[in-house]
Amino acid sequence: MKRGLFITFEGIDGSGKSTQVGLLKSKICKTNHACYTTLEPTDGPIGSLLRLVLSGRIKMDERSIAALFAADRLDHINNDISGIRDKLLKGTSVICDRYLLSSYAYQSVRTPLDWVMNLNSEAERLVNVDCTVFIDISPDVAIKRIALNRGNRDLFETKDRLVAVREKYLELIDMYKSERNILIVDGEASVEEISDTIWEHVSTLLD
Ligand code: ADP
Ligand code: TYD
Repeated sequence: MKRGLFITFEGIDGSGKSTQVGLLKSKICKTNHACYTTLEPTDGPIGSLLRLVLSGRIKMDERSIAALFAADRLDHINNDISGIRDKLLKGTSVICDRYLLSSYAYQSVRTPLDWVMNLNSEAERLVNVDCTVFIDISPDVAIKRIALNRGNRDLFETKDRLVAVREKYLELIDMYKSERNILIVDGEASVEEISDTIWEHVSTLLD
């Protein structure tokens, strides 16, 4: 059986990932390919703990947070109920809202990148990402969108952090551009334009 496609979405908070994940799923489903959408932090036990940390309900140091994100990812890959590795092997395409690059970009602001990469080496080994869509918006636009949508800001939703995270993303993309399939889209274009650009790229990967 042919393995499903693994597509990940990345970008700073408020960049439009979940909007585009939903639109891409509908487009893939219309081609009669099985498609499953998921996200990180997950809605599993470690992801739920992470959401308490992100909301400020639980305080934790940045290295412990990085380790939890890596543990949540391994559980996301391997768990018996909704593990993505199994789904991919059974031919279902999986679209994931945030994945490895989120840990590399967000956690390397306060912890060394090679340490974060080591934590995630098993996830890198277990599942190959076929395509990463990076939705790029300015931190100013992100902060405006977040303010419009939510009463409270999560741990990393400050202008300074988002500026640093966006820089990290751009450095990582530059580093990986020859070896990974990364599509960069302008997240300040219209929802439809972004969705069309993503589809133009992803549809070539489906048979
Ligand atoms: P994320 O999942 O990256 O946090 P969302 O998809 O939830 O982003 O979008 C954040 C907010 O921005 C939502 O209110 C959404 O409707 C809006 N939004 C998404 N894409 C665009 C766009 N291209 N232009 C303007 N607003 C957008
Ligand atoms: P998410 O709910 O996707 O936020 P948004 O919809 O606003 O983009 O992610 C929650 C937060 O978790 C976000 O600030 C990014 C952070 N995060 C990390 O720091 N490392 C990671 O590995 C992941 C998956 C997320």
